[in-house]
Amino acid sequence: MGGRSALPVASIKERLDTFESVYGARLHLVQGDLTDKDVVYRLFEEVRPEAIVHLGECPSAPYSMIDADHAIWVQRNNIEGTMNVLYAMRDLAPESHLVKLGTMGEYGTPNLDIPEGFFEVEYRGRRDRLPFPRQAGSWYHWSKVHDSNNVMFACRIFGLRATDVMQGVVYGTRFFGNAADHPADPALHTRLDFDQAFGTALNRFSCQSVIGEPLTLFGLGNQRRGFLPICDSMQCLALAVDNPPQAGDYRVFNQFEETYTISELAAKVATVASEMGLDPRIRRIENPRKEMEEHHYNPDHDHLLALGYQPTRDMESELRAMLEDLLPHHDRIAARREVLLPDIRWDGSRRKSGFLDGSNGTGDAGIEDPPFGERGKRDAGAEAGVSNSGIH
Ligand SMILES: NC(=O)c1ccc[n+]([C@@H]2O[C@H](COP(=O)([O-])OP(=O)(O)OC[C@H]3O[C@@H](n4cnc5c(N)ncnc54)[C@H](O)[C@@H]3O)[C@@H](O)[C@H]2O)c1
Repeated sequence: MGGRSALPVASIKERLDTFESVYGARLHLVQGDLTDKDVVYRLFEEVRPEAIVHLGECPSAPYSMIDADHAIWVQRNNIEGTMNVLYAMRDLAPESHLVKLGTMGEYGTPNLDIPEGFFEVEYRGRRDRLPFPRQAGSWYHWSKVHDSNNVMFACRIFGLRATDVMQGVVYGTRFFGNAADHPADPALHTRLDFDQAFGTALNRFSCQSVIGEPLTLFGLGNQRRGFLPICDSMQCLALAVDNPPQAGDYRVFNQFEETYTISELAAKVATVASEMGLDPRIRRIENPRKEMEEHHYNPDHDHLLALGYQPTRDMESELRAMLEDLLPHHDRIAARREVLLPDIRWDGSRRKSGFLDGSNGTGDAGIEDPPFGERGKRDAGAEAGVSNSGIH
């Protein structure tokens, strides 16, 4: 996508060595493609896992919406990889526990509260506990729905055990402990993408505030989602591994800390960035996606809390830590600033989103009217090639 990781990622050897010196364990690395069944089977034969945490999928909705080739590649990559894991479990590690990363985006934004995977439903006088309907919003998100169905079915027919983690949007740079206590060893940094396809909302806002670009809200910015810092994501995966379900059980965890609108989050980043001497501005741009911008959103998230999940409540300190980690890499981010504005549209066309004119009307998210003529803004509009009809 023309982007790069905002944080430099050390060589794999350096990362393994640093992990060993800091945490006292040598990680075993095998590189291979999960869609290659032989690779997966060889790995299972070698390791005979007790637990499998499966994060190896393409995670990008926009990437999957580029065209037919990308849509089909994402679906094949994600679904085939998971199918290989399920069959390898059946044949080589039937007692093992699969912790599979799904996404809260599988549910979409129904006008109902969202349970954790299943709900009781009454229809024509009969009752049943059924999978909650999924209404995904991209080919990527549908690939995760298809995965969920396949994992659920494999548990039923093969007697496997699995936890399907409906993860919210992840942000942050510090993945062990909590942010304030554990500045990351730079050699252990994981990727932090900020391009339109692989950068998640808060990571992108943080990179934008570091290089003085406006924090760009899609449309009204009233889309509400569940978010969690990466250290909490790690905490939840560890809890799931430590508390496996029974053989044959397929369970679903909704994994997020709290729900926020995109405007609320941008305002939080802007507040922290201002406290750190940056000059953040929040602006609305055309929404390249087809999604509801005003909607009900009230998902359950009790299962992980019942296992002892302790959410990081202090988003501000998490954001401050992220900005501290990103600021030294200002130049790396600034050199690729052009990847920040989205151009992948849900109708299959490519056109950079223009800035939306006029007041946001919500009043409380710190969104400015575009101050005409300020550095960068008109340029970005011109770059977008958007006409002057309300958008510039
Ligand atoms: N980041 C988020 O906010 C978020 C939210 C919800 C769910 N998820 C899910 O979490 C998981 C990890 O996401 P991430 O954000 O860390 O993405 P990421 O791109 O940083 O990590 C995914 C990794 O999987 C690898 N991969 C992809 N296909 C593979 C294949 N066929 N064989 C081997 N490796 C393969 C990629 O090379 C990459 O290293 C994904 O399943 C994603 O759908 C992420």
